[in-house]
Amino acid sequence: MAIELERILRPTDTPMAPYQPKYMTVASGEAMVIRQAARDEIPALLPHVEPLIHVDRDFYDIVAARLYAELLGYYKYRVQDEYVLVAQINGELAAIVNGRRVTADVGMSYHTLALRRGLRLGAHAFAAKMEYHFEGLGQKEVLIVAESPIGFKRWMIEYKLEKRFETPHELGGVPSWALTKEIYDKAKESLVVGKRPVPVEFLEKANEAILPPSDPPKPPADLVAARRSKYDPTGYFTN
Ligand SMILES: CC(C)(COP(=O)(O)OP(=O)(O)OC[C@H]1O[C@@H](n2cnc3c(N)ncnc32)[C@H](O)[C@@H]1OP(=O)(O)O)[C@@H](O)C(=O)NCCC(=O)NCCS
Repeated sequence: MAIELERILRPTDTPMAPYQPKYMTVASGEAMVIRQAARDEIPALLPHVEPLIHVDRDFYDIVAARLYAELLGYYKYRVQDEYVLVAQINGELAAIVNGRRVTADVGMSYHTLALRRGLRLGAHAFAAKMEYHFEGLGQKEVLIVAESPIGFKRWMIEYKLEKRFETPHELGGVPSWALTKEIYDKAKESLVVGKRPVPVEFLEKANEAILPPSDPPKPPADLVAARRSKYDPTGYFTN
């Protein structure tokens, strides 16, 4: 009975070409590998996404909460045609992107999360996911939304996305923007970087284990001294 019900609950994924891994040298001079995460690697990602749910800065909280659910949905077969890509520097988790195939022609971009700031790692990971939709899956357009001003700047402005406001996006039903094949081709030279094949030693290191991010975003400091002291057991005024 349970097995029969699981068959109904579990969507049958459409076969999708795998993402071909690539690597690039990022602004710090380090090599970053971007590759597809297998379903059984999702439990290794979740512990690094969960702490960001509590980071009330730059919309990390809502993006992490939604991404956590999407990753779990993928792991537990509760999403149709999802994929997950990870960016790693020396094995360390640097960014996560995901999305889904809606039809043969249309893709849905879900989330982009940078786990190390200031190196455009998120921008590179987003570009890799667009590359996957257009060059891996051969799609015609990808529906996108931004939850944060930094996301808006990175996607809507840098790529010059088109409005598709009549189409609600799966993330909250908000109006969609579209990255078409034409826009992708124009942006490709400047925004989509990376080389293939990935040198064996880099790929082996990346595949070996998803290592924790060394400098993940943290909640902002509480600048109000009185509130800080409330939780300080050594403080004079605690009661
Ligand atoms: C949006 C996101 C993926 C972009 O990642 P990214 O390309 O690696 O860029 P960063 O976030 O590191 O940097 C963004 C800007 O903030 C600056 N910045 C650098 N370090 C920073 C830090 N520690 N804190 C805040 N801003 C920082 C950068 O210099 C950059 O400025 P620029 O646009 O002039 O280059 C990333 O900000 C992120 O994960 N945000 C939270 C989730 C989110 O909003 N996702 C997108 C949903 S639409």
